[in-house]
Formats: sequence, C-alpha cells, structure tokens
Amino acid sequence: MCGIIGYIGTKQASNILVKGLKKLEYRGYDSAGIAILDKDILIYKQPGKVINLEESIDHQVENVTMGIAHTRWATHGEPTVDNAHPHTSNNGDIVLVHNGIIENYKFLKDELIEKGFSFEGQTDTEVLVNYIQLIQDEQGLSIEDAVKKALQNANGAYALAIIDKKEPNKMIVTRKGSPLAIGLTDSNDEFYVASDAIPIIEYTQSLVYLNDNEVVVLERGQKMKVTDIYGVEKSYKVKKIDLNLDKVSKGDYEHYMLKEIFEQPATIKNTLYSHLNHENSDIHFENLDELKEKLVNASRIIIVSCGTSWHAGIVGEYLIEELARIPVEVEYASEFRYRNPIITKDDIVMAISQSGETADTLAALRYSKAQGATTFSICNVFGSSMARECDFTAYTYAGAEIGVASTKAFTAQVAVVSLLAIQLGLERNQITQEKANSLVEELKTIPSVVNQIFATDDHIKKVAKNYTETTSFLFLGRGINFPIALEGALKLKEISYIHAEGYPAAEMKHGPIAMIEESLPTVIVATNNEYYDKLVSNAQEVKARKGPIVAVVNDDDTEMIQIADHVFKVPRVSDLLQPIVSVVPLQLFSYHVAVFKGCNVDQPRNLAKSVTVE
Ligand code: F6R
Repeated sequence: MCGIIGYIGTKQASNILVKGLKKLEYRGYDSAGIAILDKDILIYKQPGKVINLEESIDHQVENVTMGIAHTRWATHGEPTVDNAHPHTSNNGDIVLVHNGIIENYKFLKDELIEKGFSFEGQTDTEVLVNYIQLIQDEQGLSIEDAVKKALQNANGAYALAIIDKKEPNKMIVTRKGSPLAIGLTDSNDEFYVASDAIPIIEYTQSLVYLNDNEVVVLERGQKMKVTDIYGVEKSYKVKKIDLNLDKVSKGDYEHYMLKEIFEQPATIKNTLYSHLNHENSDIHFENLDELKEKLVNASRIIIVSCGTSWHAGIVGEYLIEELARIPVEVEYASEFRYRNPIITKDDIVMAISQSGETADTLAALRYSKAQGATTFSICNVFGSSMARECDFTAYTYAGAEIGVASTKAFTAQVAVVSLLAIQLGLERNQITQEKANSLVEELKTIPSVVNQIFATDDHIKKVAKNYTETTSFLFLGRGINFPIALEGALKLKEISYIHAEGYPAAEMKHGPIAMIEESLPTVIVATNNEYYDKLVSNAQEVKARKGPIVAVVNDDDTEMIQIADHVFKVPRVSDLLQPIVSVVPLQLFSYHVAVFKGCNVDQPRNLAKSVTVE
C-alpha cells in the first residue's frame, strides 16, 4: 500500500528519494511523486511506475538536500497526476505525503470550500494539507503546531511527512495506524523517513518506530524532538536493525517470488531453530514465560488474520485442536470486530501477519485487547505495530518478503504454529514427550523435504504451460490440506489473474460440481491421509464429467496417479506436517503460469503488499 520516503540532510535528496521509492515499489502502487525544497517547492508526479517519475525529474535539482516522496495505491480517486502525492496547500507553502485515509475528509472539505479553498483532485490528503493551511492562516501557528491542531480534528489513519517552505530547515512527520520509521545518524545532520526499514538501512541501522499520535520535528543539527498531538513531550527508543541488504535483492533470480520460494528451506530452518533449544531441541518461545500459564489454560484461541496468513491460521486450527485440544476459531480480521464478537479475558486472540501492519488485523487485536483478552502475534517484521502492541510475539524468521504473493512467510507461519501446537499439547498432557520429540525431529527434516520438491520444478513448469489459456480453476483439499487448496487458489488468482476457487473436497457436490467440464481443471491436494479414498472418489467424479485433474500426491501414490492428467509428487511426511510441504508445488505452479502469461509476478495489478487501510 502507499509508501512514504523522506530525507532532510546534507546529501542530494532526489536520488535518495527515487532510490527509496524503488525499494518501496513492492508495497503496491499505481502512481508516484516527489517534492523537493529548493528556493521554492518543486513537485514531480506521474501515473504508473517510479521509472516514469524518475525520467520526468529535472536534473537541475542537484543541490537540493530535502524532500518527500510517495508511491500511491489509489483509494479516493483514480491514479491520475492530480490525485498523486505530494499534495500542496492552496497557498503553495505546505506540501505533504500521506499513507492512510482521513475518514472525515468530506466534513473538513465542506468547511474548506466554504472558506474559499479549491481542490484539483479527489483525495482525502489534499483536504488535509489545506486544513493545515487553514489552521495556520487562522491561528498564526508554526507548521509543527498547525499539524498537531489539524490532527486533533482529523479522524482515520495516517503516516505523514510534511514540509512548509516558510520553515525550510524542518520536516514534520507523524503517524496513527499507518507504519512509519525514522532513520537517525550520529551527527543529527541528516534524517531518513520511510514506511518501512528497507529504503533506510543502506544509510543507517538506527531506527525509531513512531507510536500512534506522535509528532516529530526533524531539523538539521538538532536532536529529533517528539511530542504527542497535544504537545506533551515523548521519549523514544532507538532500535538497531539487523537487515542484510543482499537478502533484499533478487540475486540471480528472475523474480523476488521465485527467490522467496527457493529460500524456504533456509527460512523454515531459521524459524524452527530460533524457537528450539540448541542443546536438546526443546521448544522455547523467548519471553513467553509470563504468559505461558494463560496460554496453556486458555479456554479458547481466536486466530485473526487476512489472506494467506488466514490460511496459515486454518492450518493452525487443525494443529492446535488436534495436538493441544484447545478450541480454536479462525476469523477474518475484517469481519471479526464488526459483528460484536464475544471475547472474554480467558481468551487468547492470536494475530498471524507477515507485515504486522495489516489494518484489519491490527484493529481486531486492539479491539480484543480492549475487551480484556490476552493478545499474541505471529509476525515476520520486527518492531511492527502488532509486535509492539501485543502481549507476546513469536516471530517468523523468513527475512524481508518483497514479492507481493506471500510464500516463505506462509511456510514460516506454519512452522511456528506447528511448534506452538506441539508445545501446548505437551504442557496440557495431550501428547507424550515421545510424540512431541518425533514431531519436532520430523519438522527438522522439512527443509530438506522442500529441497527435494525443487528437483521437480522443471516438471511443474511443463505442466503449467498447459494451463496458460485456462480461465478458471477449482482447488480441492480435505482436512489439514483444505487450507492448502485455498492457498493454491489464492496464489494462482493473485499473480496470473485466472479465476480460482478453493473448496473443501466434500463440498464439491453441494455446488461447484456444476461447473465441471472439459475447460475447467481441478487441482486436488491428495496426499495420502485418512481422506485419501474419499479424494480418489472426488477425482473420479470430476473425471466422469471430463474435467482435467492436476493432483498433489505423495511419492508412493498408486491410485490418484492413474486418474489425474498431471501429478506433482511430494515426499510423504506425517499428516499434520503435510501442508507445509504440499503448498510448495502449488506456489511454483502459480508462479510458472503467471510468467507464461507475461504477468508482473512481483507486483500484480491492484495488489498491495501490506494492506494498511481498511
Ligand atoms: C497473498 C498475500 C495477502 C496477505 C494478507 C495479509 O499472497 O500476501 O493475502 O497474506 O494481505 O497480510 P499480512 O500477513 O501482512 O497481515
């Protein structure tokens, strides 16, 4: 979703800003813009890619050392030049970039129109910058105080970077609900601002993550000053970020998504070993101690998440209920808090999120916390809002995930919920130490099992070639493989734009079977478990109606292999651990279909990596 980058310092700003925008491209956007402060404010904006913006920038801006820039993911108004950020106030003095939504913008706009303000585009952001001007005009305030006053009357979510040409040595930044990090240097001569750490870390690893409602003044030569929107001074913590830049590049791979799929043996291993005691392989979640009793005695675990992370949540439901016998409910975060859910202080509400910033998941957590529940997150980004706000966080160690389609974050999430389920099972005396040990030992083999699947990539690619003209797919799975059918369908539709529906296999007869015909292939996740015979019958039903079948099966499969048109073989592991394995050929399949179709795999249309608005 929208990305912000800002720089105030001693170096040439526009290069830093454009480079930063390129690093934020993965978040998803449809227009981009930059404002730099020379004698006047110079603004460049373009619809489409950052490269268009870069080509439009006038090269006489070389000595300018301050500016703000933005990639916009359209919410209010189409991705046109007028709607692209930065937005300028009517008097031309104030310019700002914004990630989020000002919900009461219509109300503020009416007031501004009544007072003679005019608007070029349709965005809520243009309203906010003019509202700041109105407050300055009416109350004669500094930019810092005008921003604080304006925000006291603005509802919604925002991360903002603001420049006022009347105060050319300052940049104001603030956030509520949308992420923002500030990079500090030892000298206080320069400051970096961005929506996440990735564009900053090549300059400094000292980052400050702002809290909601904090307003920061960045001034060359001065220590950063933080207050809340009412002017009360706030302290801040500087975090040292250990993010390896090589890991944030594509390396020799054609796409980030492919690199991230192939990183999975390493990311699963990192994640597992980060939560295992090195000496005896006991499961150990750092800092959980205080909450352990609550978790072990929880009357219920409610998992809230979105998209792929929601699928990891369903895998978690099967694992935790099976091994620990704690009732689990898996909720779409976006639906959860709007239906007045019953939450008690004995509930554990667990968010699963790669980014730790997804607006709906964060809101569901906050809602649950306010109702007295204990909150827990499984999350991949250190210092993210969820990690900071939850009572406890178990990190996935997947590294930065840049491809919009989530792959390595998903398998890392499943690795963490597997360990958690085993640990809870043990603590609640639902499984024996031997069973726990054998599951942990098997989990430790998963990285090499995934490596074996990579040896079949050429075959998967060949199969994918058969389906580039297909317009619709059905994905079926059962039991713990049902969420893998959902995930396979989601991967395919998001990067290749082919319609795909995931269904529990037994539900096929209650509706989707009507769609089966020669042109509608069915992907069946049919690894050999207690439902195998039933899945074979489902496959027969599809075949009887001339539907083509692609099946994910175990290496030693004998029946499905006879029925399916194509099979992806995966090594056999325990049923409970099969999802982390079965998903891999489906990730590769959707990747190859999308590449054959010429789709932009890493930045699919309309999608944002981190959905920071509701
Ligand atoms: C799909 C995908 C999304 C995310 C969803 C939640 O490939 O990436 O469906 O899983 O937007 O994002 P996080 O996990 O960051 O909360």
